[in-house]
Amino acid sequence: SDFDLVIRGGTVVTAADTVRADVGIRSGRIAAVADRLEDGAARVDASGLLVMPGGIDSHVHLAQPAFGGPAMADGFETGTRSAIAGGNTTVIPFALQPRGASLRASVADYHKEADGRSYCDYGFHLIISDPTASVLGQELPALVDDGYTSFKVFMTYDDLVLNDRQLLEVFDCARGCGALVMVHCEGYDAIRFMTERLEQAGRKAPYYHAVSRPESVEREATHRAISHAELTDVPVMIVHVSGREPMEQIRWAQRKGLKVYGETCPQYIALTADDLKGLNMDETGGKYVCSPPPRDHASWEAIWEGIRTGVFQTFSSDHCPFYYEGEQGKLNPKARTSFRWVPNGIPGVETRLPILYSKGVVEGRISLNEFVALTSTNHAKMYGLYPRKGSIAPGFDADLVLWDPNRKETIRQELMHHGADYTPYEGMAVTGWPVATYLRGMLVAEEGRIVGEPGDGGFLKRGLSPYAVPAHGREI
Ligand code: URP
Ligand code: ZN
Ligand code: ZN
Ligand code: ZN
Repeated sequence: SDFDLVIRGGTVVTAADTVRADVGIRSGRIAAVADRLEDGAARVDASGLLVMPGGIDSHVHLAQPAFGGPAMADGFETGTRSAIAGGNTTVIPFALQPRGASLRASVADYHKEADGRSYCDYGFHLIISDPTASVLGQELPALVDDGYTSFKVFMTYDDLVLNDRQLLEVFDCARGCGALVMVHCEGYDAIRFMTERLEQAGRKAPYYHAVSRPESVEREATHRAISHAELTDVPVMIVHVSGREPMEQIRWAQRKGLKVYGETCPQYIALTADDLKGLNMDETGGKYVCSPPPRDHASWEAIWEGIRTGVFQTFSSDHCPFYYEGEQGKLNPKARTSFRWVPNGIPGVETRLPILYSKGVVEGRISLNEFVALTSTNHAKMYGLYPRKGSIAPGFDADLVLWDPNRKETIRQELMHHGADYTPYEGMAVTGWPVATYLRGMLVAEEGRIVGEPGDGGFLKRGLSPYAVPAHGREI
């Protein structure tokens, strides 16, 4: 036969089907999926393993600027190394526009960071922090044409927050371009108010990060984003949803017929605000500071309800790693003085699949096919990578993870390939683990060993999202 590689005897799982089949790979693509294929130039025995589309993580932060705070712990080399070790083959990080900068120049900076360093394929979402007339009128439409077909806007953070008028302008622009808008829904003024009150009362430990931005603050912003999206008739993706109240806002909008989509993350089914208390309300709680903050066990159940009932389409890591102890000079000492200065974000690109598999599939909350949809297929469809990425069928890129459904592991830092000096999931027991990762038919990671090289991954120019078509057509 003329296959370069045949993966033999595994159980092939897609978002639709679970079948015992061989997978034939030629020139980096899947050439055949059949009951039994002839050997190719190479053969891998996958008996006892699941063969799934490589994970696509559509929410990761790599090599973002520090804005005076500590540097991010992952650039493209370590971040994507961690991604492939965790069974992923595509990531979509963000190209952030600092205020006052041109969007195009910002994108060029990120390409410089990624070029030759990435172990997996990658696209970019844009982060719009300065929606000037020229950004909305010229730069954004041109970048959407060039394959940056989604962008994120923020309703909080000093350096990123947009006011309501700006949100509406960006939404309207997205509608015209056919781009998908991702929204970080937390209310800036409410957080500022709470932060100042807490600091005045001497409540500065990392735990008060969670107190400063309770679920109501996320719910309010979620509702506001949905209302603005309705007004401008633009589909929106509400990212990193933490609990019942924002989940119910999205569900309410979906039942109304609005094109509102939802994403959730491992931290919202595996961590709680109590983790931010650390050992004894001490600074070790800083390891769990992310936004929105993890909530409580009832929130985990609400997130599962949203996952099971289709409120959420994607399960992403929101990988955004910082050093805890850090390499010399990397840590901002200010982070020890108040939760306000603890950088927001935690590592998770490598542990996303095992956590969802273990708590979802093994514990009987979701099917194998739902697992694949939530970790790969829906990301490809949502962000314009389908039908190149996200499934196992002839013509798709041969991006695969061979998965041992019975492997028991304990998540710990020494297993991780990221740049951060800790994992927030330290000590968590999981069942199900990636055994081998193939990027376009190349073995890139095996049993925790990195086999691929920086530069194996390439830039993905993404198509328009089929989910981003406005409810009422393209013309106003
Ligand atoms: O705390 C988080 N999630 N930091 C990453 C930035 C973001 O808002 O996604
Ligand atoms: Zn536009
Ligand atoms: Zn965010
Ligand atoms: Zn994020």
